[in-house]
Amino acid sequence: MRLGGVVSALAIVITLFAIWGISVNKTYLWALKENEKYEVQCKDIPRSDCSPPVLFKAHPGCCPHKICPADQYPFFIRSGVANIVGPKICFNNTIIMGEVKNNIGWGLNIVVVQGETGEILKSSYFNTHSGGLLEFLKSVQTGNKIFVASYEDPAVVLTDEIREIFAGLGSTMSRSVKRRDTWVFAGAAGIVKESPFEKLVANDEKSNVYGDWPEMREVGGCFPRKI
Ligand SMILES: *[C@@H]1O[C@H](CO)[C@@H](O)[C@H](O)[C@H]1NC(C)=O
Ligand SMILES: *[C@@H]1O[C@H](CO)[C@@H](O)[C@H](O)[C@H]1NC(C)=O
Repeated sequence: MRLGGVVSALAIVITLFAIWGISVNKTYLWALKENEKYEVQCKDIPRSDCSPPVLFKAHPGCCPHKICPADQYPFFIRSGVANIVGPKICFNNTIIMGEVKNNIGWGLNIVVVQGETGEILKSSYFNTHSGGLLEFLKSVQTGNKIFVASYEDPAVVLTDEIREIFAGLGSTMSRSVKRRDTWVFAGAAGIVKESPFEKLVANDEKSNVYGDWPEMREVGGCFPRKI
């Protein structure tokens, strides 16, 4: 009887902590979202005059400015955060896809760039409702670069054939991406080795930071024009 009481009390305490944890991160997500909106409003204002009004400055909407050698292009990819904050793909220190540009969606967000000139060839997002990812990937030509960011659930569009195409673009993790995982990847058509620019976080209810979703991930660096 007494032991039962202790166990119930423990269960209640654990549940309360779990609820508290989720609400803490709801606040964090809200702050991220507010942060993004504010960054949109002040994107043409000097950074020193423009600090977001919310709790902390977590992941600002602008691209982290990066200088690369002349034969390389800077890029930056951030995955979506849970199903709340959209992903961001920057190329040459410019946002190509993001909340700011209102051109992102659940599923996979993808930008394709002409390798040497740096021209943006196409950008789109794919989920069960939009389809078309296979045709999109088949039109990627040798030397093109590809930048991929997950949002909410990347696995919905990943057929075996599509996973293999990503593997051919340098991905070592595309075959392992599961429902609601976080995945960011930069690769190239004609790449001979594995891309170093890839991160995957598994959706695991025991370690998820956002309830049904794991932590977000970022990857960035200098991508060689020629591969
Ligand atoms: C909430 O999210 C932040 C950032 O992702 C993380 O550092 C923190 O541990 C999370 N808090 C809880 C209670 O899960
Ligand atoms: C990349 O950025 C540099 C510096 O802003 C600019 O001069 C160049 O034209 C850009 N290249 C492309 C392909 O956008």
